[in-house]
Amino acid sequence: MGEGIRVKGHGSSMRHRFHSICPYFAMFPETFVEKHLAASRFNGVVFDPFCGRGTTVFEALLNGREAAGCDIHPVAVCITGAKCNPPGRDEVLARINELEASLSVLPSPLLSDEMAEFFAACFHADTYEEVRFLRANLDWRNDRTDRFIAALCLGALHGESHRSSNYFSNRMPRTISTKPAYSVRWWNEHGYVAPRRFVFAILRNMVDFRFRTTPPASRGDVVETDARKANAAFPYLGGKVTDIITSPPYIDTTNYREDQWLRLWFLGEEPKSIQVRDDGRHYNSKLYWNFLKEAWEGVAPLLAPQARIVVRIGGRKLSKEEMFARLLASLEEATGRIVKPADDGMTTPVKRTQANSFRGAKASPTVEHDFCFLVINSEHRSVHTIK
Ligand SMILES: C[S@@+](CC[C@H](N)C(=O)[O-])C[C@H]1O[C@@H](n2cnc3c(N)ncnc32)[C@H](O)[C@@H]1O
Repeated sequence: MGEGIRVKGHGSSMRHRFHSICPYFAMFPETFVEKHLAASRFNGVVFDPFCGRGTTVFEALLNGREAAGCDIHPVAVCITGAKCNPPGRDEVLARINELEASLSVLPSPLLSDEMAEFFAACFHADTYEEVRFLRANLDWRNDRTDRFIAALCLGALHGESHRSSNYFSNRMPRTISTKPAYSVRWWNEHGYVAPRRFVFAILRNMVDFRFRTTPPASRGDVVETDARKANAAFPYLGGKVTDIITSPPYIDTTNYREDQWLRLWFLGEEPKSIQVRDDGRHYNSKLYWNFLKEAWEGVAPLLAPQARIVVRIGGRKLSKEEMFARLLASLEEATGRIVKPADDGMTTPVKRTQANSFRGAKASPTVEHDFCFLVINSEHRSVHTIK
């Protein structure tokens, strides 16, 4: 992160300010996407079935490509949707002013003792009213202006508020939401008190900042759905996707909802920090590879006759060779096509991140592998030299 990215068509070396609207765990840098877009000789639709904060989709739009993506996580869909289908700056400012003018105190929510204690310590009472009001009034799933404001709120909801006056919360990490009881204990031990933050003023400043780089000319479609159902969600993309640049959930890495419980609450869910474990596919190797095969099956009908698939993947328990062999097999099986590795794969150490240090070393992979495959119909056998 943080590498200087030239804003396409901007004539400056400024990184596009939509990229960092909200941090997201396990995100890859835009340089990774840029490198693979430059290496591709194709020019069809760019697609990411596990789009996260939308690095692939947004970077593809900045490069003048048609792009789309999906994710099952509402936080991911809100952030990516905001970046890739943004409203105009004036519309956002007008909506913020309208919301502020209609601000009212909502009835107190019914909360468990643990949650009531958490919210009372996490936000100053007046800031909390503003946050709750926005939570109740932003129609982020259906309205792109509201989605953009919601994404700005997600990025500001919690963070190191002693370092930046743009965070709404008491001191917290910005990448993950710490658990309620742990947070309250830590704030009490250190005597940290939630600062009064004026949410609407912060939002207006953020709009000024974010729109200093012009949004891309074209829009990208982002859908909240399971990658296994990508075909049903994007029927108009059938046969049009030439480039997939993606990073699926890693095999033994935590379920993404638990670490994001406060942002999920802001997007309308009940406050809940402990999630029921999913069906085990992220912990059981057989289930995991079957899941990935089903995800490729969901995407396969979207693929053009020749397509390039780039996958960044990690996991503590699997060697690079095993990852490569399993990925290749899952792609072959799911697409029924010829799948040719474009290279031997590249391994990079995982940077120490804020999320990793909170989860502990055991929960995070230490290396990631980048694999690139060409997926071709048998009648295109002769073009396998395309990289
Ligand atoms: C490694 S992250 C992708 C990060 C992304 N490359 C970025 O730069 O932000 C994996 C993503 O897969 C999503 N995910 C997990 N299971 C999914 C499924 N069945 N369908 C679609 N997305 C899924 C997670 O919510 C998470 O956002």
